[in-house]
Amino acid sequence: MWNPIPINLYVHIPYCVKKCGFCYYKSFPIANSQVPDEYIDALCQEIDLYANHPSVMGRPIRSVYFGGGTPTVLTVSQLTRLMTAIFSRFKKTEQFEFCCEARPGEITTSEKLIALKEHGLTRLSIGCQSLDDEVLLLNKRNHDAKEFYRTYERVRKVGIENVNVDLMSGMVGQSKDSFLRTVNEMIALEPENIAIYKMELFLNNELYIDYRKGLISLISNEEEYEIAKEAYTALLSSKYQMAEHYSFMLDPKYRHLQRFHIWSKGEEFIGFGISAHSYFNGFMYQNHLELDQYYQKIKNHTFPVYRAHQMKVQEIMIRRLIFGLKSMYFSRLEFERDFGFDVIDIFGNKLKELACNGYLTISEDSIIPTIEGAILADDIIREFYLPKNSKMMLGHVRRD
Ligand SMILES: C[S@@+](CC[C@H](N)C(=O)[O-])C[C@H]1O[C@@H](n2cnc3c(N)ncnc32)[C@H](O)[C@@H]1O
Ligand code: SF4
Repeated sequence: MWNPIPINLYVHIPYCVKKCGFCYYKSFPIANSQVPDEYIDALCQEIDLYANHPSVMGRPIRSVYFGGGTPTVLTVSQLTRLMTAIFSRFKKTEQFEFCCEARPGEITTSEKLIALKEHGLTRLSIGCQSLDDEVLLLNKRNHDAKEFYRTYERVRKVGIENVNVDLMSGMVGQSKDSFLRTVNEMIALEPENIAIYKMELFLNNELYIDYRKGLISLISNEEEYEIAKEAYTALLSSKYQMAEHYSFMLDPKYRHLQRFHIWSKGEEFIGFGISAHSYFNGFMYQNHLELDQYYQKIKNHTFPVYRAHQMKVQEIMIRRLIFGLKSMYFSRLEFERDFGFDVIDIFGNKLKELACNGYLTISEDSIIPTIEGAILADDIIREFYLPKNSKMMLGHVRRD
């Protein structure tokens, strides 16, 4: 019997109320105006293009992720159009995840949350970053802690049971005390998931310019490591356990399914909208970064792809290893089943060296990062990059 392989979908909404000083995502500020319907029209057409592609037709979807930007800036009718476009064309797998990102504030209304829930939302991810109003202000984030709590309450009132909250360490003006206070307040609130991102400044950030002018300073890598270690210890000595190298969950039933299946199982995903990435049919590729080019391609009924790279087997193996490590569990058995080699025969020297330095534990069937390895995971995985990719994602301000 034909058993179609599930696929994962990502929808990029490149609009926000206001651009935060640190944000590296493709997003435009809309202040009090509305997201143009033209963008929603184009997304629906792109969804249609893929739904009719021979390599997609008949395959169920494992997960849908509305990310951005801030998907909750869409109106109820825009959200509903998108959800209908997807769910009328694709069948869901039995264990299915539908996640949406949200921002604290009035923009995330109960009506929108109810509409999402009625269309099967299973997880909501709220960007909080910090519960220290001064830190939020210094980082050009236009909401305060009270607004976060009000939004969180609304989310719970409509009955959303799996919530993730994003926090950031290393923010401008954030002392160790301020960060740990935020972490402890979040532990007390008990969202099902807490993610901690290290703030990185790239060329396209407003705060990068302030940094270059010497107006702001950043903590060093060593300070960041020490702070992260205390936060991880606080989380792990409360009710939380590790989900990925930077995120924590109250219970494995709250695990972020999309990330798990893409990272640990190597499943394919299709990204819709400007700048969205896909891994599909053996290619990694990215959509156009600018709206006019994206619209032009969609108008011509062609895939709005800006650049693509055909993955070689060696790259697919490296990808599986580094994302396995980022997921805090790499299965040697599944790797051998899928590629025909024991990972130790290929990457043994580097893996054993990392284990000797206390960053990993290697057993017969798995490789698991230690807490130190989890905190430094983004540096450790560089050991496995091919030389041509060694500078990838290194465009950020150095902290040392
Ligand atoms: C698309 S946003 C989440 C939803 C919503 N836009 C918000 O900010 O509330 C995704 C997350 O990326 C993280 N992030 C954004 N810029 C970052 C940066 N420069 N370094 C590290 N993490 C960053 C933030 O934690 C943010 O919540
Ligand atoms: S962090 Fe979120 S709200 Fe801020 S600009 Fe980025 S995507 Fe928008």
